[in-house]
Amino acid sequence: MPPPAPDAAPPVNLNQLLTEATARLDAAALSYGHGTTNARDEAAWLVLWSLGLPLDTDPDVHAGTLDPAAVERALALIHRRIDTREPAAYLTGEAWLQGVPFHIDRRSIVPRSFIAELIADGSIDPWLSDRTHRVLDLCTGNGSLAVLAAMAWPDIEVCGADLSADALAVARLNVDRHGLQDRITLLESDGLAACPGPWDLILCNPPYVNARSMAVLPAEYRAEPELALAGGADGMDFIRRLLSDAPACLSPDGVLVLEIGNERAHFECAFPGLEVVWLPVSAGDDQVLLITREALTA
Ligand SMILES: C[S@@+](CC[C@H](N)C(=O)[O-])C[C@H]1O[C@@H](n2cnc3c(N)ncnc32)[C@H](O)[C@@H]1O
Repeated sequence: MPPPAPDAAPPVNLNQLLTEATARLDAAALSYGHGTTNARDEAAWLVLWSLGLPLDTDPDVHAGTLDPAAVERALALIHRRIDTREPAAYLTGEAWLQGVPFHIDRRSIVPRSFIAELIADGSIDPWLSDRTHRVLDLCTGNGSLAVLAAMAWPDIEVCGADLSADALAVARLNVDRHGLQDRITLLESDGLAACPGPWDLILCNPPYVNARSMAVLPAEYRAEPELALAGGADGMDFIRRLLSDAPACLSPDGVLVLEIGNERAHFECAFPGLEVVWLPVSAGDDQVLLITREALTA
């Protein structure tokens, strides 16, 4: 057997590749928040996806030497992440929410709504009844909340609405991917204008980022459609119109579940005295709230 070439790369296993990829991401000082919160998890996502391995692969179990060409491809993907500063999901074309895979591309924001947690853990269920038949996912984006709602509540009909035809094209791929064409309709609508209801439940993760925060968004967030994020000076432009229009579009027992992220101060300033129920999620107790139709009309 000929001796190895003096400059041949040493054999690399999965653990070593992940350590190297993490170090390169760390050195690039990227922003996270589109499915992962740190360099190690982001490296694992990109490397395992590039190798065609499941995202829950245990590197200690998969300990063999990797094909050098596969190592090179994985590191090239890490460098695309660094050079473009695009969220990993745009590079892989896939994002996961509550264990469910979704197609994603730059036409729509990367799905990460905390409302998904509330659908999955049953927190919204006490507000529903046997009269809950029609659910609207307003600002549906890539359709992830509509899909999760249809999966969680098998007897309901869901409508996903969005102003963006591009986002709706992505939502269509996801509704079809999960075989939910008979349960979910998709609709182009500016707010509630084209979907008057009445709805028993409206889920809404709207654009709510205030102008000051928009001005300093990291590149990863600027890669997403501005329409999906920007909520005007105080982040409340869309929400003001929604809360004014919603009573006419909710059934008498209807409720609205609304994500507002870190905008509680702006929300309370815009709607003083409005009675809301905060629904705790992993990011905190004041990121998502529920409002009854009764409270909206009080
Ligand atoms: C924060 S994203 C949420 C997307 C998706 N529901 C999710 O959680 O991943 C907000 C969405 O609102 C849509 N949007 C913005 N303005 C709108 C309007 N006036 N009417 C309806 N949808 C709007 C955007 O196109 C975007 O898809």
